Amino acid sequence: MIIDILQISRDAREAKHRFDDVIDCSIGMFIDEDGFVGGLPVVFDAFKHMPPELLIPYPSVDGGQPFKDNVFKWVFQAYEQKIQDSFNYFVCATPGGSGAVAAVLRTQVPKGEQVLVSDIRWQYDRFSEPAGIFLHSHELFDGDKFNFASFKKELSYLCKKQNKVVVIVNDPCQNPSGYTLTFEEWEQILSILNEHSSNEIVLLYDIAYIDYSCEIDQRRKASALVNLKDHVQIFVTFSGSKTFGAYGMRMGALIGLSRKADFLKDAREKVLALARGMWSATPTPAIELLNLMFEEERKPDFLQGLAKARQTIIRRGHLFLKQAQEVDLPLVPYINGFYTIVKCPNSYACYEKLAKNHIYAVPVEQGIRIALCSLSLKDIDGLALKLKSIMFCS
Ligand SMILES: Cc1ncc(COP(=O)(O)O)c(C=O)c1O
Repeated sequence: MIIDILQISRDAREAKHRFDDVIDCSIGMFIDEDGFVGGLPVVFDAFKHMPPELLIPYPSVDGGQPFKDNVFKWVFQAYEQKIQDSFNYFVCATPGGSGAVAAVLRTQVPKGEQVLVSDIRWQYDRFSEPAGIFLHSHELFDGDKFNFASFKKELSYLCKKQNKVVVIVNDPCQNPSGYTLTFEEWEQILSILNEHSSNEIVLLYDIAYIDYSCEIDQRRKASALVNLKDHVQIFVTFSGSKTFGAYGMRMGALIGLSRKADFLKDAREKVLALARGMWSATPTPAIELLNLMFEEERKPDFLQGLAKARQTIIRRGHLFLKQAQEVDLPLVPYINGFYTIVKCPNSYACYEKLAKNHIYAVPVEQGIRIALCSLSLKDIDGLALKLKSIMFCS
C-alpha cells in the first residue's frame, strides 16, 4: 500500500480551516499539551541565540570530537565505560536517524542481498530500494509477545543464503506498533544472533524513541550488547529529531561497535566516504545545538523538558490504552510510544470513513496508525470510542 502521509496531513490542515472538530492523528512529531512542536522550548531558545560561528561554517564530516563524545555518553549513560571496555567504537554525525539507517544499509549490505526486518515496521523500504537491496520479514508478534519462532526461522533462512546478514531491531516504542521488548525478549534476541557463529551478523539497533520509553532503565538493553559474540557487529542509530524535539534540524548519529578493529576501521571509512559523496556533512546547527544542550547551564533544563515530554507520551498512551480496552478497540500489542495501530481488515476503507468524520489517520497494512505523539490528552479522551464506532460500523 503506497500512502502519502504528507497528503493526509495536508488534508487534515485544510479540514481544520472548515470544521472545528478535526482530529489529526497523522503527524509524526511530538506536540506538547500547549501545541509546541517538539516539546522542548529550551532547544528552540538555544537555537535562536546561537552565534554565527556555531551556525555558518562547514562542520567536520563526523561531527567533531565534542559531538561524538556527547552522543556516545548520552546513548550509553551509566554503561559508557562498560561499552568502551568491551568494544572498539566510532561515532559519526548523520542527518537524522534516517542518515544513520541509510549509512548502514548502503555500506554493509552487498547489492541484491536481503536484510531481516519485522513485518510491522517503519519505512525501511525507502532506504533499501534505492540501495538496490531487499527486505525480508519475520512476523513481529505471536499473540501479544515477540514472535521468536518466526524470527529464528527467517534468520536461519537468510543465514543459509548469505554469509552476512543485517538484522534491524527497532526498540523501544517500536514504530508503528508502540511495542517495547521486555528485557528477557531482548536477551533472547541477542542469544539467537549469537547462535549464528558461522555467519557475519550485523545488528542495526534503531533506538529512535529510546528517550520516550516507559522502561525504568532506558539504557539497560544497550548495556546487554556486551553479551554479543565477536561475529556480531553492531550499529546503533540515534535520532536527535526525537530526543531533542528538533525534527527539521536533521540531527542524528551512527555508532559502530565491534571487537574487530579491522572491521570497525573499514566500516568507519565507508560511512565517512558515503557521507562525503551523498549528504556531504550533517548541518552545523544540528551538531552545535546538540553540543549546547550538554553544557552545564542548559543541561538541567533540557533534562527537565525531555522528562516532561516523556511523561506526556506515557500519559497519552495510558489514557488511550485504558479507553481502548473499555470499548474493546482491537490494537496491535502496545506498551508505549509515539504510535499505535488499531487493527482492521480493510485499512484504506477505514481511513476513508474516518476522514469523512474529520479524523485523519494513516492506513497501514495491519490497520490504522494513530499518532498519539501529536494529540493532546483532550483529543485522546474519547477517541477510542469514536474510532470504534466509525471504523466498525457497517
Ligand atoms: C523507527 C525510526 N527510525 C528512525 C527514524 C528517523 O528519524 P529522523 O531521521 O527524523 O531522525 C524514525 C523517524 O520517524 C523512526 O520512526
